[in-house]
Formats: sequence, C-alpha cells, structure tokens
Amino acid sequence: MKEKLDLILKNGLEQIEKCVDLKALDDVRVRFLGKQGELTAILRNMKEIPAEERKNVGMLANVVREKLEKALSDKLAALEERQLEIEMEKEKVDITMPGVGVKKGALHPLTKFNNKFMDICVAMGFTVIQGPEIDTDYYNFEALNVPKNHPARDMQDSLYITDNIVLRTQTSNMQVHAMEKMKPPFKIVCPGRVYRNDDDSSHSPIFNQFEALVVDENIGLKDLMKMIDVILKKLFGEDVKMRVRPSYFPFTEPSIEIDATCQMCGGKGCSLCKGSGFSEVFGAGVVNPKVLEMSGIDSKKYSGFAFGPGIDRSVMVTNKIPNIKYLYRNDLRFLKQMR
Ligand code: PHE
Repeated sequence: MKEKLDLILKNGLEQIEKCVDLKALDDVRVRFLGKQGELTAILRNMKEIPAEERKNVGMLANVVREKLEKALSDKLAALEERQLEIEMEKEKVDITMPGVGVKKGALHPLTKFNNKFMDICVAMGFTVIQGPEIDTDYYNFEALNVPKNHPARDMQDSLYITDNIVLRTQTSNMQVHAMEKMKPPFKIVCPGRVYRNDDDSSHSPIFNQFEALVVDENIGLKDLMKMIDVILKKLFGEDVKMRVRPSYFPFTEPSIEIDATCQMCGGKGCSLCKGSGFSEVFGAGVVNPKVLEMSGIDSKKYSGFAFGPGIDRSVMVTNKIPNIKYLYRNDLRFLKQMR
C-alpha cells in the first residue's frame, strides 16, 4: 500500500508539473483528488486495510493528499501568473512609438468674423434675430421703398422663385419683419445669407450680410456715425480711420457709405483701394420715415437708423484672399492658412 501511495504521489507531482494550462491542471486534480480520484479511492477503502496497517496508511495517505494539494495550488498560482503575463504582453503599449496626432478643428473665417461682429453688437445691447432667406417681393423690396423700376428688381440682378417670391437680395428684409413684430424702442441685428445674380472673382451668387436696425425716439445720423465708429474700432483696432460718403438706398434718407482704413495695405494705398488707403465697408442710413410708416411705426414719434455690412468682402480683404470662391470651397489647404 505504501508503494501504491508513493506511486500516486510521484505520478501526481509529475503530471501537475507537466500542466501548461488551467484546464489540464483541473483534470489532474479530478484524477487524483476528485470523487472518483485515485487517492480518494484509497481513503474511502481504509476499512478494508488490516487494522495494524490502517493508521500508518491513513497518515501517509493524508501526507500524500496534502502534498498533492500544495503542488496543485502552487501550480495554479504559477499558471495564473503566467496567464496574466501573457495578457499583459498582448496589451503592451510601446510608449516609444510616435503618437497619432490629434487634428484640431477651427472655425471657418466667415464664422469667426461674423461671431466677432455679433459679439460687438450684443455687447451694445442688440438682440440677434433670424429670418427667411426666401421671402416675398413685399419684404425684400416693396416695404423697403424700392421702386418698381429699380434695377435690383430685375431678373438680371435678383433670383426669383416665382414672380412674387425672391431669394432675399439683402438682409434688409429683416428690418421690415422686425418693425412689424417689435415695439420700439429696439435694437436688432440679423446675420444671414443673401443671394444675387452675380458671379465673378469678387462676387458670389450667395454671400453673407448682416443687418443692424435701431428704432428709438430722437435718434439720427450722428448716433449712427458714432455707433459705427465704435464698431469699426472694436473690429479693426483703435487706429482705424473712417470716411463717410453720401449714397443712395431707397429705404434710408439720408444714405451713406462707410469706408474704413484699407485692411489690405493698412492705409498706405494698394491696388484694392486704388491707392486711396480706404476701402468700402458698408452702406448705412437713417430709416426713411415712409418705411417706418409702412410697417406701422409712428414716424413722428420714432426714428431709426440701419447699417448692413457684407461679411465676405471684409474677410477677403483682411485675409488677403484673391478670390471670394475660396471661402466656400471648404478646401482644407486653404482653410488651414486662415487659422
Ligand atoms: N441692404 C443694403 C445693401 O445690401 C445695405 C444697407 C443696409 C444700407 C441698411 C442701408 C441700411 O447694400
């Protein structure tokens, strides 16, 4: 019996030693120590062993069991450790490898310029509103006092959907929408896309404007000029110079055209400003009382002023962009230079 137990121990230890994974180890455990296991069988049949041998065999069998259990648990620990090592090896990150660069996005130059303009206006108390790009002839022309024979009404210059529905040619349509809905005094600003039948290197059929309108009591041209002066300084810097020229818009009276220090040459004179050092930035004026009345505002009590800058031209000039179309092509090679 002693030899049998020694053999079980020897075989058991050998087989445990040979195990390369947890499954094999468990099979060995079952084979020796499981319910039907070789050692279990001996322990279970102790009764059949002659009484004088029983004690010694019993002790020896327990020693064998303890040794096998110890070997099993040592092997288990070793295999588990090895398994962990294998997994860690698989997941190992080579920290000396060059990293994958994170591509940072940026705002489009038109968006950036527009946001800057909006921030300035909001800080001055303007409310930002939005309105239709497809509008009726009434809002885009009629209610703005644009006469029937005005060239802007011609198909050559404007994009019509039907005889009465037009892609707005100016954000000034929002002056009418605002005046109809809002009670004076108010200050609104409306950024948006406008459409004209125009297409060359400095004109695009779609471009961006925004409209600012102030309606209040006792306001006029000098308030308008002061406000524009403040805005231009915030937009282009304290040194910017402003020049005012008379102009004509059917919905403002008087109408003016604002020029500012040419952002291309900084005022020195260049081909863009034709040597004058100034470039045109936007049209503006005191709201024609007829326009106030048409939208239901008492022109004896209230007056207003408005201005309507084009965004695209300013972005072109400040970034020295030769063709307006570059702003719409979303070519990353171009946009990256605008950062
Ligand atoms: N809507 C005019 C344009 O498109 C600009 C403008 C706006 C002029 C407001 C006067 C007042 O040219």
